[in-house]
Amino acid sequence: MKFLSGEKINEIRNSVDIVDVISNYVQLTPKGKNFMGICPFHDDNSPSMSVSREKKIYKCFSCGATGSVFKFIMDYENISFPEAIKKVADMAGINVEIGNMPTKFKSPLYEVYALSLKFYTNSINTSAGKEAKAYLAKRYIDEKIIKEFQIGLALKQNDALSKILLKKYKPDLLLKSGLIGKNDYDYYDLFRDRIMFPLYDLTGQVVAYSGRIYDKEDISKYFNTRETEIFKKGELLYNYHRARDEARQKGVVIVMEGFMDVIRAYSIDLKNVVATMGTAVTSFQASLIKKMAKEVILCFDGDKAGAKATISCADELFKIGVTPKVIRLENDMDPDEYILKYGKEQFLEKINNPLDIIDFKFAYYKVGLDLTSSTDLSNYVSIMIKEIDKIDDDILKEVMLKRLSRDSGLNYETLKEKITIKPVIIKKEEKAVKTNKYDIAQRNLVWYMLKSPKVIKMYDNRVTFMPNASYRLLAREISLFYQNYGYLDEAEFMDYIMEDESLIETLKNINKANIKETFTDEEINDYINVIYDYNIKSETKRLQKELEKEVSPLKKAKIVQRMIDLKKGVGENV
Ligand code: CTP
Ligand code: MN
Repeated sequence: MKFLSGEKINEIRNSVDIVDVISNYVQLTPKGKNFMGICPFHDDNSPSMSVSREKKIYKCFSCGATGSVFKFIMDYENISFPEAIKKVADMAGINVEIGNMPTKFKSPLYEVYALSLKFYTNSINTSAGKEAKAYLAKRYIDEKIIKEFQIGLALKQNDALSKILLKKYKPDLLLKSGLIGKNDYDYYDLFRDRIMFPLYDLTGQVVAYSGRIYDKEDISKYFNTRETEIFKKGELLYNYHRARDEARQKGVVIVMEGFMDVIRAYSIDLKNVVATMGTAVTSFQASLIKKMAKEVILCFDGDKAGAKATISCADELFKIGVTPKVIRLENDMDPDEYILKYGKEQFLEKINNPLDIIDFKFAYYKVGLDLTSSTDLSNYVSIMIKEIDKIDDDILKEVMLKRLSRDSGLNYETLKEKITIKPVIIKKEEKAVKTNKYDIAQRNLVWYMLKSPKVIKMYDNRVTFMPNASYRLLAREISLFYQNYGYLDEAEFMDYIMEDESLIETLKNINKANIKETFTDEEINDYINVIYDYNIKSETKRLQKELEKEVSPLKKAKIVQRMIDLKKGVGENV
């Protein structure tokens, strides 16, 4: 995909200082020629990300994440390459029209949703919307909020929206939208007589609705769009696009259950808030939350279900190394009700004094138990042991175990025997098994090709291919880049391969090996010889098999000759 010339992209990249840009997101401290910071792309506690002003790239020594300033912004903000370019261009004061950039494939459903939104938001302002407006007013949702959150209305008629959409779009597309249904006779609206709350994807586009009944009581108060090609409930958080910047600035993100809670929080100027929308938090959502801010506060409904949801969300966060804080609201209230009843100040007071999740867990599992009874105590200890075992953080495990030992009066060592402290060695062993000398030779060779044209030439002159496809493809791209441009700029090269996930993945793996920067010709020749040697061995093996199957004496002789040549190192390259 080339939406801007390579030159223009280079100009934009070179017009900003990568250190300045990344400093907006991550605190960087100078170290030698480079700058170091905490890597935002994996669970990191010590600075393992290095940023080079000179090379215009960042690199994490731990997870291998690497790239130019564009890649950093793309991954940090979850935006596309063109959007990241536009962002950086804006910082540099360079004018680029993102509108002209053909972006990746875009579903026509976005357009359908944009039109439906117009219709719904318009309808609520007509006379048909009077009752809905009255309901919202009763819930202290004023005009400003209605506008900001694009709250609309689905009319009572069967086909109000269908009629409009069918004028413009094919029925097949509309049936895929989750807005329109069809019976034997006709198309009809799936949402009728409901207040429509648009749901947005991560970039802020409307991709679904939650429709609320307002003129009667019913157990199914909300009706949601089913999953479509543009709407996967487990892959978004309500209000993510609006809350992202605020959460980053404050370093805190508050997670609630309902979008009404978020809307209410907004009305008291609390904007670093997202909602899970009532379902169990997925690992995807957990990682979104983790990306938003370092500190995570779970403020779910005050009822039993809310407590349960708090635990399960916390577990999902634990898995990726996030230890959230918790707010519990009294009398089964949800944040919306609490704020309306007690006001802004008292709610902020709560938010500013969150509970430790560990304290909450200990309290949660104790509810209804009498720890002086042996049965209850033993139940409690088993539950807590299981809980502690789930945590993927050995220090936190220890802390909780000590606590449980105090709480239960049981011996710490006995409790410790019941849980598995994961030996860190396992990971290292896995690594060792995978990397033999052939792997190392290929990996290091690609790495040095990236560092020096001299190595590219040495490789191109001697070896025809690397046996490992991933390394081979990356080496080929490096060679091609150098042949085409006559130089190799690392940042430029990384942008050049940006769209190719498998190449990026290979690069990441190479980075993780933390190969030293400098090399000697002798080392390079050694790597090449190792690869050469490997290719000869596997070619010989292949010929051996061929020989065994071959019946024609003439052909047999040819194969044997080929094997002799291979041994002598003459003939075609391998
Ligand atoms: N939800 C849903 N369907 C339901 C009930 C809830 O999809 N029948 C989702 C909605 O996304 C809602 C969230 O779960 O935002 C939380 O549910 P709940 O706490 O019951 O909603 P409230 O935010 O309290 O909504 P309201 O105040 O309007 O009753
Ligand atoms: Mn509510």
